[in-house]
Amino acid sequence: MTSQANIPDLSNLWMPFTANRQFKTQPRLLAKAKGMYYTATDGHQVLDGTAGLWCVNAGHGRQEIIDAIANQAAELDYAPSFQLGHADSFRAASAVAKLMPQGLDRIFFTNSGSESVDTALKIALAYHRARGEGQRTRLIGRERGYHGVGFGGISVGGISPNRKTFSGALLPGVDHLSHTHDLSKNAHTRGQPAWGEHFADDLERIIALHDASTIAAVIVEPLAGSTGVLIPPKGYLEKLRAITEKHGILLIFDEVITGFGRLGANTASEHFGITPDIITLAKGISNAAVPAGAVAVKRDVHDTIVGAAATGIEFFHGYTYSAHPLATAAILATLGIYEKDKLFDRAKGLSKTFEDAAHKLEDARHVIDVRNMGLVAGIELQPRPGAPGARAAEVFAKCFDQGLMVRYTGDIIAVSPPLIIEEAQIQEIFQTIESVLKTID
Ligand SMILES: Cc1ncc(COP(=O)(O)O)c(C=O)c1O
Repeated sequence: MTSQANIPDLSNLWMPFTANRQFKTQPRLLAKAKGMYYTATDGHQVLDGTAGLWCVNAGHGRQEIIDAIANQAAELDYAPSFQLGHADSFRAASAVAKLMPQGLDRIFFTNSGSESVDTALKIALAYHRARGEGQRTRLIGRERGYHGVGFGGISVGGISPNRKTFSGALLPGVDHLSHTHDLSKNAHTRGQPAWGEHFADDLERIIALHDASTIAAVIVEPLAGSTGVLIPPKGYLEKLRAITEKHGILLIFDEVITGFGRLGANTASEHFGITPDIITLAKGISNAAVPAGAVAVKRDVHDTIVGAAATGIEFFHGYTYSAHPLATAAILATLGIYEKDKLFDRAKGLSKTFEDAAHKLEDARHVIDVRNMGLVAGIELQPRPGAPGARAAEVFAKCFDQGLMVRYTGDIIAVSPPLIIEEAQIQEIFQTIESVLKTID
């Protein structure tokens, strides 16, 4: 916990996705970060088990990124991105395109995952309209999906607390696939569960109900993160791809957390060998040093929209800070580090050690499931009777006090460290969680 001397007035800041009243009675403030560690304002070191918020893939305080941002701020602090450009915005687009699956080489820059999602949904609508199928406006998401917090993202998203307050204002014409999680069938699976491919058939049901001619796109996280790490069953994503292709529906993979090495490949699309039509990106794209996001789009989708306009602006969408010079500087430096240090190969090489360490928790107190892929693990706890989420919240707080940062959603602990992690630190993460679990009811 943070010592009183270092705590500023906490009253003005309304914190996002935070229990504000509770936090302000027991604040946890971070002061510094370097490599695998945060330092809290009371001076205690915290091992980063979550790459910040799934975003600091190259580790903290990378000098190349710091220099790139500082130099860029001195050289060109800002450039409007509408009807003007700057060279690094094009260079950054080429660098991102190089990491995308073949054909997804048209890149639209945003500032966050939420913006990437809403941009992708708009691209899907614009594409069908440009093809003369403007009646295809329906969007299909999935239960438990997290696609950020824009109105588009919460509409296709499937996390009920994020939706219920705004339920009267969600996008019309959205439907949801069922989620794929069933612990009676796939508890303690290493990697992809063998059971559950049939959940993709739910898409055929939805198509039969609405008719394919009304559906623009299906959006899913190839590996769902924020809801508490749900790994796609074997064959499931393949089936979604086949069904969407058959019906002329665009498939969007939301890779805001899986992009840039999390699964030991450039993207989850590459890892699973499935190519969607659109990929949304953010987080690891800039190592989180500057807010940044992007949408990678199949060339045909891009060309259809851009080619359909008689003249002038082809796509009425964009942000003041699309391809902000500080963001493109950070993106170029970050992608340079990933390549130079071969961090995605490193993540792949560490996956087995990570998996073995995570699954040692299978028999730990309160644990009902351990699941993993790449450098992601979910540890699901038996909820405390009458107090769902309380147990995981306590694990989070105690881990932090003991020098480990984890995430939790409901009663699921998520672990997703920077890709620079050492083997001993992997062991430390899961040993700390295990010892904390022993101390709580
Ligand atoms: C899959 C996915 N999509 C979108 C988002 C939203 O990103 P942001 O918080 O940058 O808007 C997130 C954030 O965790 C995410 O995990």
